[in-house]
Amino acid sequence: MRVHIRPPLPSDAPAYSAAVLRSADHIGPWNPVDPNGLHELLRRQGPTLRSYFILDNEDGGIVGKVNVANIVRARFRNGALGYDSYVPYAGTGRMTEGMRLVVDRCFRDCPDGLGLHRLEINVQPDNVRSIALAKRLGFRHEGFSPRMLFINDAWRDHERFALTAEEWPGLEAAEPPVR
Ligand SMILES: CC(C)(COP(=O)(O)OP(=O)(O)OC[C@H]1O[C@@H](n2cnc3c(N)ncnc32)[C@H](O)[C@@H]1OP(=O)(O)O)[C@@H](O)C(=O)NCCC(=O)NCCS
Repeated sequence: MRVHIRPPLPSDAPAYSAAVLRSADHIGPWNPVDPNGLHELLRRQGPTLRSYFILDNEDGGIVGKVNVANIVRARFRNGALGYDSYVPYAGTGRMTEGMRLVVDRCFRDCPDGLGLHRLEINVQPDNVRSIALAKRLGFRHEGFSPRMLFINDAWRDHERFALTAEEWPGLEAAEPPVR
């Protein structure tokens, strides 16, 4: 394992800003991110949003960020993953390693994990790298959602991928919903 994960901290703001700026060319077309947006992201953390940084084990640099968004409990226990990898780690496989840790954390029971049962990834059809990442993690293609998200001044179609806890290696099926 070349990476580990943890929630972002206020003290990460300068390194996060630099990572996003360095990576603007490859993030911008798919998922424009405010380089100064970490404090706002931290403010929004709560029952419906949990974020993680993927960090390099050797130099501590920020490999990527994963948002577990739109978390719904009760009978759904579902979250939607959004993510970016950052230069110079993008394309080295570290993002995939870190995403495995995040997915595992999502499916683990509370309090160590988020206790979710289903995760989804929504990707624009031309976003080849993101679709490759979703498939590497074992996400199934579920369907096509026209005009799903407003990105770069237009409603963009998305391919929908999903995975449930039963499909995640090494994890027993999640308990049934409790409320
Ligand atoms: C989507 C995104 C997060 C994918 O991240 P990534 O940097 O490609 O992920 P990784 O670091 O795991 O790199 C994987 C690539 O490195 C290659 N690689 C190199 N060394 C590797 C290694 N030791 N182990 C595994 N893969 C390795 C893989 O083959 C793969 O390349 P491929 O996709 O051409 O097959 C990234 O492209 C990104 O931030 N895109 C912009 C934002 C975005 O689209 N977000 C998602 C919106 S849905």
